[in-house]
Amino acid sequence: SAAAKCPFLGNPDQLVAGKGTTNRDWWPNELKLNILRQNGTSSDPMDKDFDYAAAFNSLDFPTLKQEVIDLMTDSQDWWPADYGHYGPFMIRMAWHSAGTYRIGDGRGGSSSGSQRFAPLNSWPDNGNLDKARLLLWPIKKKYGKNISWADLFILAGNAALESMGFKTFGFSGGREDVWEPEQDINWGYEDEWLGEKERHEGDRELKGFLGATHMGLIYVNPEGPSGKPDPIGSAYDIRETFGRMAMNDEETVALVAGGHTFGKAHGAADPEKYVGAEPHGATLEEMSTGWKNTYKSGVLDDTITSGLEGAWTPNPTRWDAEYFDVLLNLDWELTTSPAGAHQWKPSNPDAPQAPAAGGNGTQGIMMSTADMALKMDPEYRKISEKFHKDHKAFEDAFARAWYKLTHRDMGPLSRYLGPELPKEELLWQDPIPEANGYTLSDSQVATLKTAIDATDLSASDMVSVAWASASTFRNSDKRGGANGARIRLAPQNNWEVNNPEQLRKVLNALKDVQDNAGFDVSMADLIVLAGGVGVERAAHNAGHKVTVPFTPGRTDASQEQTDIDSFGYLEPRADGFRNYQKGGMETAAEELLIDRANLMELSIPEMTALVGGMRVIGCNYDGSKVGVFTDKVGALTNDFFENLLDFTYTWKALSSDDTLFSGTDRRTGDMKFTGSRVDLIFGSNTELRAIAEVYGANDGEERFVNTFVSAFAKVMDADRFDVK
Ligand code: HEM
Repeated sequence: SAAAKCPFLGNPDQLVAGKGTTNRDWWPNELKLNILRQNGTSSDPMDKDFDYAAAFNSLDFPTLKQEVIDLMTDSQDWWPADYGHYGPFMIRMAWHSAGTYRIGDGRGGSSSGSQRFAPLNSWPDNGNLDKARLLLWPIKKKYGKNISWADLFILAGNAALESMGFKTFGFSGGREDVWEPEQDINWGYEDEWLGEKERHEGDRELKGFLGATHMGLIYVNPEGPSGKPDPIGSAYDIRETFGRMAMNDEETVALVAGGHTFGKAHGAADPEKYVGAEPHGATLEEMSTGWKNTYKSGVLDDTITSGLEGAWTPNPTRWDAEYFDVLLNLDWELTTSPAGAHQWKPSNPDAPQAPAAGGNGTQGIMMSTADMALKMDPEYRKISEKFHKDHKAFEDAFARAWYKLTHRDMGPLSRYLGPELPKEELLWQDPIPEANGYTLSDSQVATLKTAIDATDLSASDMVSVAWASASTFRNSDKRGGANGARIRLAPQNNWEVNNPEQLRKVLNALKDVQDNAGFDVSMADLIVLAGGVGVERAAHNAGHKVTVPFTPGRTDASQEQTDIDSFGYLEPRADGFRNYQKGGMETAAEELLIDRANLMELSIPEMTALVGGMRVIGCNYDGSKVGVFTDKVGALTNDFFENLLDFTYTWKALSSDDTLFSGTDRRTGDMKFTGSRVDLIFGSNTELRAIAEVYGANDGEERFVNTFVSAFAKVMDADRFDVK
């Protein structure tokens, strides 16, 4: 039959589970609930109670580090080291692991070891780094679960720098590996590598939180904007992309110059002709490697990676001042690499040379257009000249910027591990005072709860403010959260989503409780405790007796410890839990709800219970009735779900942009409720509806209340790494 002949339709071998046209193929715009399921226990090979911090602390760290340093000069036949030293290669790997971080949503970065997985393992910018990771395998194998890949990448970067004579600022372990690609990170919409069609708006500004100017690059195109060798244009792109990595001009110059003091670029020949598929697209027998290079030996001086070719300095495996010496003292002119890439060479043919990577002879030095930006852009140039004159200042700036780059997404200092932590506390670490033994006894907690209950605050007041305080937490870079009580401080105390007027009222009432307590209690603890009192009261009003778990020990940060600009990035664009969306946004509110739930590490049932509970307690940011599907506001009932699923009501859009809807009684035509997209999605999306049905059923209220209480406590404690 025709079917038997057709290799696709008729061959039963093709009909394997999971293949075939999927929902995502039919409905590409369906809600991406998958990001709330990523890194579930079914992918994780470790025991449920595996404690990475304890495992890391059991390491003989100095021995491990020495082995990583020894590896740098132990050249392997299958991928020999340029100049006999893997240091520069390892720095590039560590930099590319950390450099995907973007401050906008805190996603990307070095904290998860995701360079092992697609798309990162196959990004054109990560060319040949598959070999750098493989070189580390013998060490990873030896230490197994006690050192994560994520930590090993960064440790390799530090060991590389130190083995070439640079003193680093410090190292912390504590990055836990993920076991599957991170699907939540939006790298852009282009469907070709190095594409850039979809990512700019206005005056070449990057859209959204994107951190790179091209799909598949860490930051900028080394050849210049859109491949044009224009150093000033390149400076613009560098400033924007490094800014999104939370780096200022000085940090940026220090990083690029410090990095390119080492190593070389690889572009021995035309990649189109000689380089095979990237790891994720390569053949089985390549065993997760890629970019097979058939040009001559394929290694050392025959390597093809970026397509640019040559070392930046005459001594590429030594920490020194040569980068600025050659960049600033020599004149440079445009040329092309053997692979056809734009790059710059010294105009003077007698300029110093670098050794050949394989050890035979020498090779001319070069600069990329991005390096030339450090010389041609007036602001960068001032900094370059300063660093050129003052090598110590350069050293200090590079050490600090490298430390920030590689530790930026680790969260509070309580997560930092190992014997090489710097003593100095840094503002970007969002410091909070040490607890120094401060805690609250059970009887003190009981006394405070009675005092809070006696204020004239409503359940809605208390739950709203506790939520506002804790829900800034984002698991992506572990910033935010209730500890520190930064909700009292700028900028958070003025965010529209936090209803500043209500916030001040609640803070004043809690300040009275604090002043009259007769013992030490932090505002951070009081705010969270009040949230618990509010939830318990709301549950009581619905006939349920619950106790919200409370973990004391939070402390209060000061305004000086709070970088206002940096905290500005934690302001929610939308908070579906409080029915808030910033004006002028094009993204659908339900997508932003999933985005936030992902940042808060909530499961689908937790997110569902929280939305339903926050509505009936009356926690909309503006006190509106939108989504408040109950007549008993302030009681933790399952009314939100019951009414949402009740076909007595029919829904229609009230606004032309489909953001507000009315629910009317089918028989009487009376309007009973209004709801937002975030409300209606729990009836419309079938997966969310399935959960809503559990909570909205006659036997569902208790399950709903219990899930709400545990999810609420989870949000309150999301940043308590000090007690985890
Ligand atoms: C190598 C571009 C920033 C460290 C390279 C290569 C390019 C490049 C094209 C050659 C890759 C190859 O062909 O093997 C850029 C651009 C940057 C930037 C455009 C930003 C504007 C940095 C930073 C660091 C760094 C911030 C570290 C602090 C290195 C090192 C190498 C390298 C050590 C040498 C690798 C080796 O010898 O194998 N970079 N880079 N780069 N980069 Fe960067």
